[in-house]
Amino acid sequence: MKGVILAGGTGSRLYPLTRVTNKHLLPVFDRPMIFYPLQALINAGITDILVVTGGQNAGEFLRLLGNGKDFGLKHVNYTYQEGEGGIADALRMAEHFAGEQPICVALGDNIIEKNIIAACETFRRQAAGAHIVLKEVPDPERFGVPVFEGDRIVRVEEKPKKPRSRYAVTGFYMYDARVFDRIRAVKPSGRGELEITDVNNLYLADGLMTYSILDGWWTDAGTFESLLRANNLVAQTGANQVGPSAVTGSADPRVGRAAE
Ligand code: DAU
Repeated sequence: MKGVILAGGTGSRLYPLTRVTNKHLLPVFDRPMIFYPLQALINAGITDILVVTGGQNAGEFLRLLGNGKDFGLKHVNYTYQEGEGGIADALRMAEHFAGEQPICVALGDNIIEKNIIAACETFRRQAAGAHIVLKEVPDPERFGVPVFEGDRIVRVEEKPKKPRSRYAVTGFYMYDARVFDRIRAVKPSGRGELEITDVNNLYLADGLMTYSILDGWWTDAGTFESLLRANNLVAQTGANQVGPSAVTGSADPRVGRAAE
């Protein structure tokens, strides 16, 4: 499985911190934000990785990550998203890189305490489709929120005013190579973006989406509050731990309509 890190967008919720730099280059405790999702992919055994950047400071990613030697990688791939047309728009840039292979996508502002190894193993057992990773949160209205019928997710609602569950869809997504056809089928949302939630809903409608629940803490870092939280969590416990308990994991694969 190949990996894709999405690190475009304007980071406007962090102005003025992001006026002269890209959000994913900002510090989270002792390292730049993008190091965390990159390490999360590597810890899950994913070493062929594409970084999608955008904006005025794209060249800085090359200066920071180079060929990935510091992470034990042989190579890092880069591409550029023009504008900030949404997460699914950024993912479109990965089509050539992915070819016919499945991909694991990480949002560049997502940080985890442990790892996504169990989720990747669940997805690898699927012949096709997609897999999302959930985490129970106190403020689901900030995120994509799954709507359940029993154990089954029937759809995901993006930033609902009245969340229908206490779970957030985290920024770790796994897709088969048909994801790019589905992105082409999606129309821009009210906020003018190609939403990853709409892509996920197409997989759910086709009964091709499974999910797992993440072990350990998870946070994004795209607002002042969540950036502070990310700093504190990393300082207190560290991130991207790969211990035996996390490898077997408490990821809880429950199959959606596909398996019925
Ligand atoms: O963090 C998880 C959440 O991320 C999910 O629960 C939501 O369903 C999903 O829509 C997303 O919500 P946000 O509103 O927090 O996404 P944001 O616009 O902050 O973008 C997250 C990352 O995606 C960002 O750090 C870089 C990448 N991105 C985003 C946009 C809009 C791009 O690469 N290009 C873009 O145009």
